[in-house]
Amino acid sequence: MPRRGRLASKSKVDRERRVGASALFPDPDDCALLNDRLTRNLIRGHKRVARGPVTPTFDRESFRNELADFDFQEPHPLDKLLSWTTKQMEQGLVHVTHPRYFGLFNPAPTFPAQCADRIVSAFNPQLATATTSPAAIEIEAHVVRSIARRAGFPPEATGHFTAGGSEANYTALLCALTRATPDFATRGARAFDGPPVFYVSRESHLAWIKIAHQAGIGRSAVRLVATDGFGRMDQNALNEAIIGDRRGGRVPFMIAATAGTTNAGMIDPLWACAELARSNKLWYHVDAAWGGALIASDYLRHVLGGIERADSVTIDAHKWFATTMGCGMFITRHPNVLSCVFEVSTSFMPSHNSSLDPYVNSLQWSRRFLGLRLFLSLAAAGWSGYAEHVERSVALADMLKAELLRREWSVVNSSPLAVLCIKPPPGVGDVRSIVARVLASGRAWIAAASFEGSDVIRACITNGETMSDDVLELVRLLLARSDARERVICPEGDHGRKQLFAN
Ligand SMILES: Cc1ncc(COP(=O)(O)O)c(C=O)c1O
Repeated sequence: MPRRGRLASKSKVDRERRVGASALFPDPDDCALLNDRLTRNLIRGHKRVARGPVTPTFDRESFRNELADFDFQEPHPLDKLLSWTTKQMEQGLVHVTHPRYFGLFNPAPTFPAQCADRIVSAFNPQLATATTSPAAIEIEAHVVRSIARRAGFPPEATGHFTAGGSEANYTALLCALTRATPDFATRGARAFDGPPVFYVSRESHLAWIKIAHQAGIGRSAVRLVATDGFGRMDQNALNEAIIGDRRGGRVPFMIAATAGTTNAGMIDPLWACAELARSNKLWYHVDAAWGGALIASDYLRHVLGGIERADSVTIDAHKWFATTMGCGMFITRHPNVLSCVFEVSTSFMPSHNSSLDPYVNSLQWSRRFLGLRLFLSLAAAGWSGYAEHVERSVALADMLKAELLRREWSVVNSSPLAVLCIKPPPGVGDVRSIVARVLASGRAWIAAASFEGSDVIRACITNGETMSDDVLELVRLLLARSDARERVICPEGDHGRKQLFAN
């Protein structure tokens, strides 16, 4: 091995590299071979996953013992390691790519997004600056502008990709605090005349609590506004909370409405929240982390009416846009606010352009090229392909609802999105034991959740490969009877959707 301080001949250094690092940087021919094998293995694995259990078949103790054998003293052949790893993934995960995963918003990723990840891994571009990765930065900016325009934002709207919805919501909070009191940038929460507070509904995604903690304004800054009995922020309660906080010496700075609550897919009154934010001079954010995908559908997008009034919005591509994880987006109508929040100057970066360089207008510094996942998916399928994708999910959720109502089960949320909060009829068993029974079968994945204070079974359909038979199988599992295997005709999608989910 070449040592520092000792001059080695050029050929010796080159020869030693070939021996020591060939496992890390194999010859191109070996790379091609390994890549081909891996591709075939993954495709076979994907098929096995769809036929097998949704839940892990995994013994943690024996897996830990197996892992302990990797003491990293002796190298192992990479092709064996790749087969070993895919096998562990097949056995050791809840399969979000399974067509009967009716769970949280982790859809089977689109094929173009998977291709994007391969390309990005190969080139490994650094997106901290536009100087180092101009093509990648332009692609991301183009996608963000297209999403912003489709959501009804003005042409000057800007934004960026984030690791996920939480980072995008955190960015919104920092923008709101900085806009409320520019002195926040230097003095933090002390810049306010009283404790700063902001408003979300109690059905919102409670990463807000962690966000307030991280931002240093304290968890009590999150005002959890009552809902209206249907899972939406109660506008009268919101108004009263703002008045009460002002009277109590606190300083309201933001309303964050949710367009698609996590548990129930409910949409807060976006127009009314916009109006309250305007009249109280508060930043208005809309968390449309998963519901935002409805902008794709001309038929369904009206349910997001009012989103275009927001100062900023969160839309996650890794939720209903079905890219690989994690891939969020933060979009704002105020082109300069991001650089006020994230401005910093150093001597070592190759450029300093506040409108172009992500390291001075977003939270991250080194950045992966996330936006290619959505660019390729949108370019391959078009808005119409995504429209089919979301409309089809909603159609399957409607079908599930109809099948359950027919059997005297109830659905207690009334969401325009593809999620149901289900209640069994009396005498059938409680929610948690029904969920446990379905999970134990390994045939489907659903969750126990709560909606407006009561326990519900939550079933969400965001997988582009879920078919009507999968929905009927879920009905059968919920009922634990075998008479639900009826055929129901379901739109199986056509060209646009097939671009997203290749055979
Ligand atoms: C409405 C909403 N906002 C924010 C988030 C957090 O997003 P992420 O998990 O990508 O950080 C979620 C996650 O499910 C969500 O449903």
